[in-house]
Amino acid sequence: MLDRVLTTIDSRQHQAVAALTEFLAIPSVSAQPDHKADMVRCATWLADQLRFAALDVSVMETGGHPAVVAKNKHVAGRPTVLVYGHYDVQPPEPFDLWTTPPFEPTVRDGAIYARGAADDKGQVWCHVEAIMAWQAHVGLPVNLTLLVEGEEEIGSDHLEAFVKHYAADLKADIVVVSDTNQFARGLPAITYGLRGLVYEEVFLTGPGHDLHSGLYGGAVPNPANVLGELIASLHDKDGRVNIPGFYDDVVNLTPAERAEWQQLPFDEKRFADQLELPSLSGEAGYTTLERKWARPTCDVNGITAGYQGPGAKTVIGAKASAKISMRLVPNQDPTKVSAAFRQALRDRCPANVKIEFANHGLAGPFLTPRDGQAMQLATEAVEVGFGCKPVLMREGGSIPVVALFNKVLGIDTLLVGFGLDDDRVHSPNEKFDLDALHKGARTAAALYDRLAKLWMF
Ligand code: BES
Ligand code: MN
Ligand code: MN
Repeated sequence: MLDRVLTTIDSRQHQAVAALTEFLAIPSVSAQPDHKADMVRCATWLADQLRFAALDVSVMETGGHPAVVAKNKHVAGRPTVLVYGHYDVQPPEPFDLWTTPPFEPTVRDGAIYARGAADDKGQVWCHVEAIMAWQAHVGLPVNLTLLVEGEEEIGSDHLEAFVKHYAADLKADIVVVSDTNQFARGLPAITYGLRGLVYEEVFLTGPGHDLHSGLYGGAVPNPANVLGELIASLHDKDGRVNIPGFYDDVVNLTPAERAEWQQLPFDEKRFADQLELPSLSGEAGYTTLERKWARPTCDVNGITAGYQGPGAKTVIGAKASAKISMRLVPNQDPTKVSAAFRQALRDRCPANVKIEFANHGLAGPFLTPRDGQAMQLATEAVEVGFGCKPVLMREGGSIPVVALFNKVLGIDTLLVGFGLDDDRVHSPNEKFDLDALHKGARTAAALYDRLAKLWMF
């Protein structure tokens, strides 16, 4: 039966692109309040598509943007697969750097360009194509629950309560997420690790109002200078994060894992060239893949201080602030790291400057065994989809719900993603290769076929 399902997918490639174009044209930017109605429109559009595939679909309240939940008719005795994805996208700005507008999906050079193309609408669409193809024949071979949420890009804040509340409805044997990358073009991957995240904003206040930098400079604390010092203090000269306790719970890479990653076809020079960098940098003693996938980091993501307008203004600004994110690795605890970060900065901040914090996100890291049955079935599915064996890799990005599914539902996740490292996710000119769309849909179809055998041998 899988062969006939795959033939259907092969013959529907034009329709798949047409449908994905409609999906991508809806500006479902979760971070921007102006797009609140578009979020509902996008969820509703997706729900309608899934109803055409004869699924039982609901657009559910979460307290934030709605989530779409769809199920086929569940049959006792079959494995239940929870497929998770997100229909929200990152803000498209800056608009002027897009070759074609972010919400006017355009096909060129074998890829579809639009915000959300790879992250994550294109990958969600791979599953929808696979579902439709199975439903057009004998119906899906597994009990499927599809959860497509609208707040992943803003930290999935409402999802924990949602998953707890609907735990019985969402209960499954395995979670499948397609929101990661292939290792490289022509080399698909299964991802067995993700980094977690702590995102903090730090606010400094010095004098009660802005001051003339000539009349007062040298006699008062300057929050902008202090912010610079605090940020500089966060790394030592070897590129290690200088926060007491930061590395306490870090699980070190095994020699076997390091040796395996050495064998992956990764070219540091090509990687730097692609980023228009003369060379790379990071924590001493680690390769680029190790730095990206398995070492924790701390990076400024935004900074505000002093006069930002054109020309010069001689002023000591009363306030300064920075947004700083830390990527965590197994077994770091986001709550503990957040506390350690705040304590370190409080200890280093001069007494005459007020320091305050806000949190913008906490997500646990993820690492799953590489030798389970689900992993083996996924490997077979990728081989069917792509015609070659996947490599096992980790990723540096975060998907907050993955740790959540484990914690709340006690379910493990298979990360089988179809993106490419040149997809420019979160950047202007995001795209998804049509080849990835096609092979991703085939892989999803094969995955449902293989997962039907879960726990059965
Ligand atoms: N899909 C990405 C994460 C990703 C991309 C993982 C490629 C692995 C490979 C996801 O949508 C994302 O951007 N996550 C955010 C999470 C944050 C907003 C809480 C991230 O990693 O910054
Ligand atoms: Mn994503
Ligand atoms: Mn993203």
